[in-house]
Amino acid sequence: MSTEQTLREAATNRDFRIGAALAARALRSDPSYWKAARNEFNAVTPENALKMGPLRPSPHTYDFTDADAIVDFGRENDMYVRGHTLVWHNQKPEWFQAWDYTDDQLRKFLRDHIHTVVGRYRSSIDAWDVVNEAVADDGTLRETVWYDALGEEYLDLAFQWAREVNPEADLYYNDYGADAINEKSDAIYDLLERLLERDVPIDGVGLQFHALAGRPDPESVAENIRRFQDLGLDVQITEMDVANAVDDQPEDPLAEQADYYREIVEVCLETDCDTLVTWGVHDGSTWLRNFKDFSKRYTDDPLLFDDGYEPKPAYDAVKGALSGTDRS
Ligand code: GLA
Repeated sequence: MSTEQTLREAATNRDFRIGAALAARALRSDPSYWKAARNEFNAVTPENALKMGPLRPSPHTYDFTDADAIVDFGRENDMYVRGHTLVWHNQKPEWFQAWDYTDDQLRKFLRDHIHTVVGRYRSSIDAWDVVNEAVADDGTLRETVWYDALGEEYLDLAFQWAREVNPEADLYYNDYGADAINEKSDAIYDLLERLLERDVPIDGVGLQFHALAGRPDPESVAENIRRFQDLGLDVQITEMDVANAVDDQPEDPLAEQADYYREIVEVCLETDCDTLVTWGVHDGSTWLRNFKDFSKRYTDDPLLFDDGYEPKPAYDAVKGALSGTDRS
């Protein structure tokens, strides 16, 4: 048996959280999957199970089976658990039709949802992505059902309702395409500054970090993290994966991927961003294989373990950066 330390041990020794998004079906059916999750990671995010669609089979019922399985797995294995996500414009229930509700009814619907879900996991979820992707790519507030009914105040309310039921959990705003300094992260910065000025109980910002084709410049990522921290917010990397455009690949993709993961872990260590969650355990579980036509556009091996659960160069790079043995 190897005596080499695992990724989880390297992270824990460094007071760092390295996480993976998990799916209940894979946990139940594939021992290699849950063993890798348990042995190599000290943080977990349910990939889909806590979204409104999967949780709400009908207007008056909840199905917590999958969410409970993942949250329980995390707790049993002494992992940090991120809840994802309470308010989003995607993955809503099929039966949900905004035109069936008045604005006041939508407000009550959202409050009940947040109270019920946050309340159930009051003692088992450490941090919540309360609002996901409220900002559009051009920096304006996204036109969602929640925005349409309640205006910008829907963010204030969502955070307040979450805080009411769980004063202990850290409450995050989470988004994509805002990892470095750019127009979208500028807009998110302005939005979160407004929320803080209104005393909205927000603790942090999640940078999703889906590096599918471009690579956000690490120095700009560090600067971005620091400006949010200067607002008094914690910053976590919440959904990282590193792929390439199918028609534009580097000469040695695995080595390039490893280098980039290492650079971003080093940015985290330098900036005291203490949590990095990868969006899946192994390449066999990446969302890129099942989402729209993404498998035609992007390479589908963005994670730290390959299809056979063998650690990839990216795994060694992340572990090396965390254990201080691989700093370039
Ligand atoms: C966004 C969401 C995630 C997941 C990914 C991939 O980043 O926040 O929950 O759905 O898209 O689809």
